[in-house]
Amino acid sequence: MSNECKPFAGKTAIVTGGSRGIGRAIAEVLASRGADVAIADIRFETAQATAQEIAAATGQRVIPVEVNVASLEQAKAMVKTVLDAFGKVDILVNNAGITRDNLLMRMKEEEWDDVININLKGAWNCSKAVIRSMMKKRYGKIINISSVSGQAGQAGQTNYSASKAGLIGFTKALAREVASRGINVNAVAPGIIPTALTEVLPEELKESILTATPMGRMGKPEEIAYAVAFLASDDAAYITGQVLGVDGGMVMM
Ligand SMILES: NC(=O)c1ccc[n+]([C@@H]2O[C@H](COP(=O)([O-])OP(=O)(O)OC[C@H]3O[C@@H](n4cnc5c(N)ncnc54)[C@H](O)[C@@H]3O)[C@@H](O)[C@H]2O)c1
Repeated sequence: MSNECKPFAGKTAIVTGGSRGIGRAIAEVLASRGADVAIADIRFETAQATAQEIAAATGQRVIPVEVNVASLEQAKAMVKTVLDAFGKVDILVNNAGITRDNLLMRMKEEEWDDVININLKGAWNCSKAVIRSMMKKRYGKIINISSVSGQAGQAGQTNYSASKAGLIGFTKALAREVASRGINVNAVAPGIIPTALTEVLPEELKESILTATPMGRMGKPEEIAYAVAFLASDDAAYITGQVLGVDGGMVMM
């Protein structure tokens, strides 16, 4: 592939939750376009296997790093490992996320806390851990993976919708803080994508989501990855604080 097809040649990226699903697709697309990628995941063995496969397929440096993004201490250690390995972090994709669906009436405090701590605080932790090094370089791209559930709300997901809506506020606030330092902060809001996360949804809920999707189909993980790659590229240099919906038309704002 010529350098023209490798817009991320010489760039480095961290993809949290990159060992499978949407995060894996993001890691694959960034590496196939020339980035060295750290796959930062709580599932270390899966991250190791994914990193090996992507490295073999792309010829890039792809490293697995174990982290629970809910811990600031672990997020800092993860970023240090990546800085030691790659020397810099140009791109951070806050993708790690979980669901613990339940109606509010039945939801346990722990189900609220786990989702907020991983989905929302996790993005804050990793951004905080990486921001100083990006500011020094006066270059950085942070992309947060939100959801249509955060934009429109979803019954049974008070915790998840709140975390994903919170990510949108976080994206806009941080974008304002660091715009003058050459750092872009944006969010991508996927619709429904077949992964381990959505596998467990009841069939009738999936049907009703598809009925509400003008394109009438689920998205593919790589369709989210292409949007992330655009926002991570210098083609999107003048875009910050935005939420890009990749949802077959489900939410139009
Ligand atoms: N699949 C969808 O339909 C959909 C829709 C909208 C948004 N999203 C969002 O996309 C992101 C990826 O979801 P997915 O569908 O690929 O799910 P997934 O469960 O396949 O992947 C999530 C990844 O995050 C990792 N992870 C979980 N908790 C972690 C933690 N504490 N620290 C580090 N890593 C952790 C998992 O090990 C896994 O590799 C999530 O933020 C999710 O909320 C997914």
